[in-house]
Amino acid sequence: MKVSMDEWSDSLRRVVTVANRKGGVLKSSIVRNVADVAARAGYQVAVIDGDPQGNLTEIDFGVDGDGGRGLAMALQYGTELTPVESDAGVDVICGGPELQGAIGAAMMPGAEVSMEANLRGALGRLSKGRSYDLVLIDSGPGDTRLLDAYLWAARWLLVPTLDDEAALAGVDKMGQRFVAARRAGAEVEFLGAVVGKVNPRATARNAEVRREVETMLGEEATPFDATIRYDAAGRVDARRHAMSAKDVAEEAVRQGRARLERVKGVTREPGAVWWSNGKNAGQGLAQDYENLTREVLTRIGTREAAA
Ligand SMILES: Nc1ncnc2c1ncn2[C@@H]1O[C@H](COP(=O)(O)OP(=O)(O)OP(=O)(O)O)[C@@H](O)[C@H]1O
Ligand SMILES: [Mg+2]
Repeated sequence: MKVSMDEWSDSLRRVVTVANRKGGVLKSSIVRNVADVAARAGYQVAVIDGDPQGNLTEIDFGVDGDGGRGLAMALQYGTELTPVESDAGVDVICGGPELQGAIGAAMMPGAEVSMEANLRGALGRLSKGRSYDLVLIDSGPGDTRLLDAYLWAARWLLVPTLDDEAALAGVDKMGQRFVAARRAGAEVEFLGAVVGKVNPRATARNAEVRREVETMLGEEATPFDATIRYDAAGRVDARRHAMSAKDVAEEAVRQGRARLERVKGVTREPGAVWWSNGKNAGQGLAQDYENLTREVLTRIGTREAAA
């Protein structure tokens, strides 16, 4: 690989790449919600939407982005990254289809493009300038060249999975990619794994999946105690309104009150389409993300102190 360690190690020590070689395992949802919890706690947070699908930018944060052009240029030429401030109080480096162009350029015969070195430099300068406490990189499920660039730019790797054979196979493949990057000199380390879409009551099964993941990835990737529960209504409301899980839980309380007032005839406004109804709606999922974020930040702190 063409990247040697550079002066950016220190600026990149709070950069976490969230990746699994399988799609649909909650990578983007975890980036969205860990960013939200940390920002609410007063951290300076940035997210990088490294996925050509651009869902994190447009759907999860509701940002009208540049189609990934700025990030593609940074990967291709090492140009500056320019974040967009989202309503969530999190800086967003937008993703989108333009990222495919960067991959294409890097693949051209004779192209001497090191997306790894370019991104390390651009992100190192950005993190240093803005003093971010946490930078989360969301990766797409497909392209390994982009994935490698995100592994080289990060200090930590967080691997989400589901209790599902295909997702676990993706974890295994992710582990192989990680080992290859490490062998080539990348400084990224495992931070841990997260099991998502779980039934919180199935504690024995959830513990077994966590053991299985630990066997695959090794002790450094010990899955977090926090798991992310299945919440169909919560995820529809979140994505429809570009909300975090915490936003949904708060809005569910307001919607409940408004419903009550309509019943009493106080207001005649028709209710908006909203699915998270009932006592404590959305609160379990919000709590899961709070627990996960606390563990993520604590683990980073502990490992930093030990280094
Ligand atoms: N807690 C939840 N319970 C049930 N479904 C969820 C939950 N959170 C997210 N989802 C849904 O699961 C799907 C995958 O989530 P998400 O987009 O976060 O995964 P991803 O790994 O980023 O996917 P991709 O590989 O396509 O980028 C989405 O349809 C999302 O709305
Ligand atoms: Mg995604």
